[in-house]
Amino acid sequence: MDCTLAEIRAHPKSIEIQQYLSDKLSEKRFQHVLSVQELTVDLARVHGVNVWQANLAALLHDSAKWMSTKELYSEVERYGIRLDPVEKANPSLLHPLIGVKLAIEKFTVTELEVLEAIRNHTTGSPSMGVLSQVLYVADFAEPTRTHKEAAVARKLAYASLHRAVHYVARTEIAYLLEKGVLIHPNTLHTYNRTLEGSEIQK
Ligand SMILES: [Fe+2]
Ligand SMILES: [Fe+2]
Repeated sequence: MDCTLAEIRAHPKSIEIQQYLSDKLSEKRFQHVLSVQELTVDLARVHGVNVWQANLAALLHDSAKWMSTKELYSEVERYGIRLDPVEKANPSLLHPLIGVKLAIEKFTVTELEVLEAIRNHTTGSPSMGVLSQVLYVADFAEPTRTHKEAAVARKLAYASLHRAVHYVARTEIAYLLEKGVLIHPNTLHTYNRTLEGSEIQK
């Protein structure tokens, strides 16, 4: 029998990360992470992803979100991370990059799928594996998100992960276009990839 969410949360490694997050993040952000954790673990079961890896990716995806813009840029410098032009101009794209470093150095995560999921959770990526796709959708769709698109994406995510990824990328792009801000190429590539030879095209 599979572990319950309560058992997963009671694992010493989960407790260590959850403690760090509750100390560092705002209460609202912490509740968001717990909600992402619940949805990611549930979707992992549905789509045949390793549940423990899903738990780690979800818990750690916003682990650098407490840092100020200044701290994020100084961490980028310290790690010698090369930013692309869109990342350079948009500090909200930095926390996934530093989240990967925290996962490796502070929480000794070694699984590439987990690190990739953390890395891709904001922009998406056309080469996302199933765990990355699950986290990308869950971050957008978890139930503490109040916009109506979250409920749509959540429903889609159980029926077709592919369609859910398409919907999230499309909604994000429409939102960013409306705001008139930069769109990361990975989000556009994610959107395009979900249309290539898929049933969504019609
Ligand atoms: Fe995030
Ligand atoms: Fe998040």
